[in-house]
Amino acid sequence: SFAPRVFSGIQPSGDLHLGNYLGAMKRFVDMQNTGIETVYCMVDLHAITVWQDPAKLKHATRELCAGFIASGLDPAKSILFNQSQVPEHSQLAWIFNCVARMGWMQRMTQFKDKAGKNAQNASLGLFAYPALMAADILVYHATHVPVGDDQKQHLELTRDIATKFNHDFGVDFFPITEPVIEGTATRVMSLRDGSKKMSKSDPSDASRLNMTDDADTIAKKIRKAKTDPDALPSEAKGLEARADARNLINIYAALADMTVEEVLRDVGGKQFSEFKPMLADLAVAKLAPISTEMARLMNDTAEIDKILGDGATRARAIAAPILAKTYDIVGM
Ligand code: ADP
Ligand code: NA
Repeated sequence: SFAPRVFSGIQPSGDLHLGNYLGAMKRFVDMQNTGIETVYCMVDLHAITVWQDPAKLKHATRELCAGFIASGLDPAKSILFNQSQVPEHSQLAWIFNCVARMGWMQRMTQFKDKAGKNAQNASLGLFAYPALMAADILVYHATHVPVGDDQKQHLELTRDIATKFNHDFGVDFFPITEPVIEGTATRVMSLRDGSKKMSKSDPSDASRLNMTDDADTIAKKIRKAKTDPDALPSEAKGLEARADARNLINIYAALADMTVEEVLRDVGGKQFSEFKPMLADLAVAKLAPISTEMARLMNDTAEIDKILGDGATRARAIAAPILAKTYDIVGM
């Protein structure tokens, strides 16, 4: 009974890399181009659950917006905006704080991971984060959310909150949102260690391709990427015990919009000395135009701010009536 609508968010918390591009942005663009309504958000309210330098946060928010657009996100087709500019997220989050149970929140493994040993010193916002995420999704009545593995538990909580709200107030108002789980093929691993996720928090810059890297840097990092001494197999099962080789093949397949099997049909039997230049050429062809476009957009922050302002207006046009109806249901 709910029209299909996709929602997803990314935190503006620092350098964007190939994992963010293939695991999030490129998927978001692909979904936008299926014709489903897509709503994408820079979640700065989530970012500040841990300390953010104010000037860096502002920069990272604009850079994330530039990254979305440079990746092919069309602000005319998708609604693209910054969370704090749409106050309905925080307003619905408060109501969800009163629906969610302490016990549910205490089971969230990401809080335990992020708060670490000193949980007493974590912000209250970090603890309440999943209720805000539920509000982000449900304030648009979103039916589908593309998520990585690490967000599955939070989406489960979103479903629990929607179910409890509907039950407590005897309504069928919030949809029970479905996850769109990312395949392992879109999990990008470190270029220095194929057993670890590519991440902005890895201290080695050579472990990742940043979306702002220029062509030379991209080619150099791929030349230096960790491999093994064997030739490439011609079937996917030959990659099972070879994490570094598998990662480079996965990256090639994702960038070329091919399956791993198709890639191996072309490169099976080749040595890395032959394959790496092919991968470097492909990565430069796909990623260098993105970094060039990001740099151009970052030279004109007024254009970015205008896009975000327009996006917030369009987001509020959906969110405000849903929040108003929620207030009415609650008796406010
Ligand atoms: P990081 O892991 O670098 O801290 P985030 O947690 O901010 O990045 O992730 C933002 C988005 O990018 C999420 O949708 C996440 O699933 C995706 N993502 C991050 N790293 C990777 C990766 N190595 N492979 C695939 N997707 C990733
Ligand atoms: Na992450």
